[in-house]
Amino acid sequence: MFSKLKNPIDSHFLLSELSVITSESSEDLARKISKKINANFVKSQIKVFADGESKITLSGKISKRKSIVIQSINPPVDTNLIHALSLISKAKETSSEVIAVIPYMGYARQDREFLAGEIVTMKVLSKLFKGAGASKVVVVDIHSKIGLKYFSIKTKNVSAIPELVQHIKKLNLKNPLVISPDQGGKERAEGFAKELGSEYIALEKKRDRKTGKVRIKTKDLDEVANRDLILVDDMISTGGSIIKATQFLKKQKCRKVYVACTHALLMNDAERKIKKSGVIKIISANTIPGKTSVVDISKIITKAI
Ligand code: R5P
Repeated sequence: MFSKLKNPIDSHFLLSELSVITSESSEDLARKISKKINANFVKSQIKVFADGESKITLSGKISKRKSIVIQSINPPVDTNLIHALSLISKAKETSSEVIAVIPYMGYARQDREFLAGEIVTMKVLSKLFKGAGASKVVVVDIHSKIGLKYFSIKTKNVSAIPELVQHIKKLNLKNPLVISPDQGGKERAEGFAKELGSEYIALEKKRDRKTGKVRIKTKDLDEVANRDLILVDDMISTGGSIIKATQFLKKQKCRKVYVACTHALLMNDAERKIKKSGVIKIISANTIPGKTSVVDISKIITKAI
């Protein structure tokens, strides 16, 4: 890009315009984004003390004009949250503008008071990000847009679905059908199916708000028989939703079941349990690093910032 610039001083000026700052768990994705926008890359070294406190030391040049902090809030959630806020706060000491890119926004499922007395943690986060110094928050496929309405700074939700679909297309599926494991993901499944050029349906899932256990309420489904299925979700945590949905779909005599999701947290051996239930392959985006995170979303984030 800079070889096209006539004056080498111009390129030097541009290089110092932006910095990308990240902590360890989002480093791969942040490096890809930093390369695409020719930013100064600022990495963190983290030392965890015996009591669990993190000491973060940055290395690299923070730009005066704009910093982009890239940090998912994946497990350990509270640790990564404090890392993200600390990076934003440090960036704001030098940069006049700080954008927080939170590819996976932890706590996004706590966007409403489902049971009396529950704290809507997304409200708390909205204040913390602003207080730390961010002027805009960019997220990828947030669980629900309700979580973003609490922010008084700018927000943007970008979707990994087009990139996930490109990957699914290469699998040459037989008469594919996109399925959401619950009604809350109906719109997501619709968007996925539109990109793929296929049909979609959404199952009825019931989650016990006290135990967290899920069950599928949908009864017999004729349309899945003999078809390859793609279960689409925003995230997989314990795998409970996907496992219950797959067990149900397998009973309906479908062909292969694939899973496409944006954020694969895959807690407590979830990947093995999901495969055991009959899923052939899990495909996820690199909002969270991991074995299934084969879909790179650095391009879509670059466009959003
Ligand atoms: C719920 O509505 C979400 O979209 C996911 O389906 C859910 O959070 C996944 O969690 P788990 O893998 O623990 O069932």
